[in-house]
Amino acid sequence: MIPLSRNCIGPQEEAAVLDVLRSGFLVQGLQVAAFEVAIVKRTGAAHAVAVSSGTAALHLALWSLGVGRGDEVVVPALTFPAPANVVAALGATPIFADVEPDTWNVSARTVGAVMGSRTKAVVVVDQFGVPADLPGIARAVSVPLIEDAACALGSSFDGRFCGALAPIATLSFHPRKVVTTGEGGMVLCEGQAFADRIVGLRNHGMAFLPPYSAPGLNYRMPEVCAAMGRVQLERLDGFLEARAAIAEIYASELELTTQRALPASRVNHQTYGVLLPEGTGVSDRDRVVVNLRSRGVEAQILSFANNSLPAFAPAGQKAPVAESIAARGIALPLHPAMSREDAKKVVATVREVIER
Ligand SMILES: Cc1ncc(COP(=O)(O)O)c(C=O)c1O
Repeated sequence: MIPLSRNCIGPQEEAAVLDVLRSGFLVQGLQVAAFEVAIVKRTGAAHAVAVSSGTAALHLALWSLGVGRGDEVVVPALTFPAPANVVAALGATPIFADVEPDTWNVSARTVGAVMGSRTKAVVVVDQFGVPADLPGIARAVSVPLIEDAACALGSSFDGRFCGALAPIATLSFHPRKVVTTGEGGMVLCEGQAFADRIVGLRNHGMAFLPPYSAPGLNYRMPEVCAAMGRVQLERLDGFLEARAAIAEIYASELELTTQRALPASRVNHQTYGVLLPEGTGVSDRDRVVVNLRSRGVEAQILSFANNSLPAFAPAGQKAPVAESIAARGIALPLHPAMSREDAKKVVATVREVIER
């Protein structure tokens, strides 16, 4: 089976993790601090605060902004449900902005269409690693903007790296991401005071002045994760090159619709999505996924229309473009360990299954 995703964990990661285990210092120490510095250097963000997941990063970012009961937060309709879940966990209401049919990202137009007087913040995802138009959205909204760059480490827009396209951003280091720490995440931000607040919240309020003067949680990153992340980050350019080579084969040999990047973007190819022809229903899409897998290609459904998920559907919000992409989209295998032959096999299998 050609796997959908596979991490490249080698001797360097193993050695770094072993050093931590032998050091006897396991949680949020020098490795975490060094990983934060490395992410600052790589993204150009002013501050980086490591936490235990991308979801934790979103939670702390929105909590720090004071999001709570009675507030609305605009999130993309088409994405993994983490942003909407976090908004709901804070007692606020997620409002789903539809995505553009070509970029599969929200835009100033789609965000503007759902903003209202109760909108407390806007979360914009660089979906599948393709940068959203953060500058355009920033010009159109007057509430705090969070860039959810969970999938987008290494991508850039107009010469600026994802993770530094908005005053506040979040990253994930889940194994599906281009750089992994197993589980892990980071909050990136422009302001020192905001970073200090995240540092307090991630560790029981211990770092507040005076200590414990506000409540906090345990969202610390383990040292083994940070040690692994430092090595992975050093290998990022190699990962990006290998991913781009596979994406290039798919782009030139498959005739299916795929995601369009805005001009001046560089994408990290975290996920390669294709849309089955218009009119394809969910059951046909699921049959295609099963058929691809039975022929040795581990395809996966592409993403979710969050407004249609059981947790959020009762609110009756609509996002027709996201719903269509979610119903017709599949993700194809793409990871740095794939060979050209693997990619050619995926192409041949996709053609065979879809043309049947
Ligand atoms: C856009 C987006 N945001 C947030 C997350 C949550 O990240 P984590 O799994 O590290 O909690 C994900 C995870 O896939 C994601 O795709």
